Amino acid sequence: MLDPMLKAFIERIPKTELHCHLEGAIQPATLLNLAARNGIELPFSDEAGARKFYEFTSLNQFLEIFALACSTLKTAADFETITLDLGADASRQGISYREVFFTYAYHQRRGISWDEVVKGIAAGREKARQMYGVEMWFIADIDRTIDPQDGVQTVEMAYASRDVAGIIGVGLDSQEIDYPARRQKPAYDRAKELGLHRVAHAGEDVGPESVWDALESLEVERIDHGVRSIDDPKLVKLLVERQIPLTVCPLSNIELKVYPNLAAHPVKRLRDAGVLVTLNSDDPPMFHCDVLDNYFAVTDTFGLSLEEVEDFVRNSFRATFQAQSEKDSYLKRFDETAAELKAELWGM
Ligand code: ADE
Ligand code: ZN
Repeated sequence: MLDPMLKAFIERIPKTELHCHLEGAIQPATLLNLAARNGIELPFSDEAGARKFYEFTSLNQFLEIFALACSTLKTAADFETITLDLGADASRQGISYREVFFTYAYHQRRGISWDEVVKGIAAGREKARQMYGVEMWFIADIDRTIDPQDGVQTVEMAYASRDVAGIIGVGLDSQEIDYPARRQKPAYDRAKELGLHRVAHAGEDVGPESVWDALESLEVERIDHGVRSIDDPKLVKLLVERQIPLTVCPLSNIELKVYPNLAAHPVKRLRDAGVLVTLNSDDPPMFHCDVLDNYFAVTDTFGLSLEEVEDFVRNSFRATFQAQSEKDSYLKRFDETAAELKAELWGM
């Protein structure tokens, strides 16, 4: 059982999250409201039904349900609602800084304009900052399956909206099997030219070759998931040498059957090998967990020490796309709060 002091420490220490999808984070109550507001029929009618409905056997099956959640979003007001909700949720968990993905392809397919999406994100982001003091920045994810020309267009739109909606980079998500990262190289080359940050989901549904592909073809700065890198010692060595962060979502990987259980998950082995591993939630309600749950489960399963927990939190602050001076001030606040909590909880 998780030590109650360690649990309190995890709850109260300032944290950051770097791997969370805006559309995958819609809470069931909000989803039901949005569906009613927009006349969308859902295969469940209450929150308990939603929770039961979120059962997956594969990433591709999950992505169908992710698309269903997206179908409830139509107007800028809808995007504002879910962005503000994410700010409230961050505040509840002690997350002071969050980098959040959104995937325009899922909205473009339904005829929603880019401007409608970013208008809502911009409004929700500003309200979240005012109401909760939570800082959120956005990463425009390219759906791996889209036409590479549309990938380039996503980058152009992201760049044009960078100031209005706080878009700091581009990412890659959705179906990994059959859609290698290199397909979207034109988009990433353009993102590099424009000075946008670059990340990619890889090494979740496909093995280490997919992580190599993202690193070599797209020159990404972080890998989202990346857990299957563990199967290639040469790749692990490279991740360590270059300190390329992995935004790991352990409970998501269990729900999507990447690993049968947490004890078999490589999160601790990667960390012990020297990889810069961060802990994140991915699509919280869909995977029946939040960031705190991921920390609790990893701490409990692997018997993490206080120092190891601190290390994971510190890694997340180190891996953000903030300027070094901003990182330093978040880390300073982290160190001060950690010292206060250690004195209060353990008399240290
Ligand atoms: N979109 C939302 N969550 C995802 C995941 N875990 N992998 C790939 N695409 C996603
Ligand atoms: Zn993800």
